Amino acid sequence: MDGKWDIDMKTKLLVMDDDLPILSLFETVFSTVDTTLFLEKSYDGALQCIARQKPNVAVLDICLPEKSGLDLLQEAKRIDPNLAVIMITGQNTTQNAIDAMKLGAYDFLIKPFNLSRLKRAVQKALDNNLLSRKVHFVRERVSSIAWSEGRDIMIGSSPEMVEIWKMVGKVANSDATVLIQGDSGTGKELLARAIYMNSGRKQKQFLAVNCAALPEPLLESELFGHEKGAFTDAHCRRIGKLEQCNGGTIFLDEIGEMSLASQGKLLRALETQEFERVGGNETIKVDVRVIAASNCNLAEAIREKRFRLDLYYRLRVVSFELPPLRERREDIPLLAELFTLKYSRKYGKRIKGLSTEALELLLGQEWEGNVRELQNAVNSATVLCEGELLLPEHFEAMRRNDVGLCLTQHRRDGDELSNIFQEVIEPRFDDLCRKCRSSVFDMISMGVEKAMVEIALDRCEQNQVMAARMLGISRNTLRDRIDRIRQG
Ligand SMILES: Nc1ncnc2c1ncn2[C@@H]1O[C@H](COP(=O)(O)OP(=O)(O)OP(=O)(O)O)[C@@H](O)[C@H]1O
Ligand SMILES: [Mg+2]
Repeated sequence: MDGKWDIDMKTKLLVMDDDLPILSLFETVFSTVDTTLFLEKSYDGALQCIARQKPNVAVLDICLPEKSGLDLLQEAKRIDPNLAVIMITGQNTTQNAIDAMKLGAYDFLIKPFNLSRLKRAVQKALDNNLLSRKVHFVRERVSSIAWSEGRDIMIGSSPEMVEIWKMVGKVANSDATVLIQGDSGTGKELLARAIYMNSGRKQKQFLAVNCAALPEPLLESELFGHEKGAFTDAHCRRIGKLEQCNGGTIFLDEIGEMSLASQGKLLRALETQEFERVGGNETIKVDVRVIAASNCNLAEAIREKRFRLDLYYRLRVVSFELPPLRERREDIPLLAELFTLKYSRKYGKRIKGLSTEALELLLGQEWEGNVRELQNAVNSATVLCEGELLLPEHFEAMRRNDVGLCLTQHRRDGDELSNIFQEVIEPRFDDLCRKCRSSVFDMISMGVEKAMVEIALDRCEQNQVMAARMLGISRNTLRDRIDRIRQG
């Protein structure tokens, strides 16, 4: 996907100003091996350059002898909506800045320039241009995907995912057992389905069994079936999933949660393609391809003797490791555009995609919940969006959830503190109870409060305003506590 930009690594920068010293300033600062510089003195020259050269960034003067630079900005954006434009002027009027930004300028600078600010502004404009070109390209790609409603497709163009697609191509057609490992929400089930859809077994069944959802006897009955009377509720014979999908593919999700006893039975079934129904003697022979997945670390489960090493080797004839989304951020634009289109259709909206700013926001997230979390965030944003583009404000709910994570962290920190206090208070507790009888609670609370206030005042050299801020309380509350402590 990135190839489109990688081929031409040179940045194209257009500068248009009728003031020659300004042009030579840009020449001095920006003539580097990585940059092709186009210097134009006139309105028409700049316009032609934009149409022919497709620069990444254009720096345009507002005050021109012929026309206003703001007209040029409008025409430039019509020719190339992705062009990042920095407007420059010697006249510091607020209205110019407002008009320029309203017409789609990326930034606005006043002459004379502060050189480091100028370089920063050009770099940021370039980043913005690359991102919006990417959005544009990805959007075209996503809308061209032949997409059947109701069926999820798996996409990704990061080098990590390309390796995975290559591997799918190599192994899909064999009957080799597959093990897929990866954090929750990375797409393990979707990958299992992609392998199945590309295999010679795609006309046959694909059945999924979640090994964590059922207790041992029920899971065995689910997999192998049971005979009538095998256990109390076995009123009639039941055919298990392995038998049901004979000729097809079975997906054993969360395999790491399977009991050791069931692992033994599964291993035998894998090795011989034979098993007995629970409570039965008849040997059933099947031809089933097994794809297993785990979001827990199987190596650790093996060390802790919760998972059989022999089964692990038997399963990982072919092994996939799906990296967390934060390790393949390049996939975020493509996935986000795909989900936008998906939910826009679902809710009957006309959303074309994400704004560059919204995408910037998504690229900066940690995505602990991986692709599933990204999908949910886009889903909520799509519900809120009334226009044609998803904007950062539509992702407010996602940001509030970040606060939720923050609270979880607070809770964790709180638990740690409570352990520390317990260690300190425990040895003195009985003694305190004896001495202060009915006021133990107040005594201890007061002691903690006093310690906190004193530490904060000490750190802030007795400045009460700063100490209150440090403790996250108002200055009045702090004064009140100080008075109480002094009286006490
Ligand atoms: N590469 C991808 N392209 C498109 N959609 C994806 C991709 N990866 C995951 N998804 C979507 O994200 C969601 C989570 O994927 P999936 O259920 O396959 O994850 P998982 O790894 O099995 O998670 P868990 O361990 O929690 O079961 C699904 O709705 C899936 O359609
Ligand atoms: Mg899953």
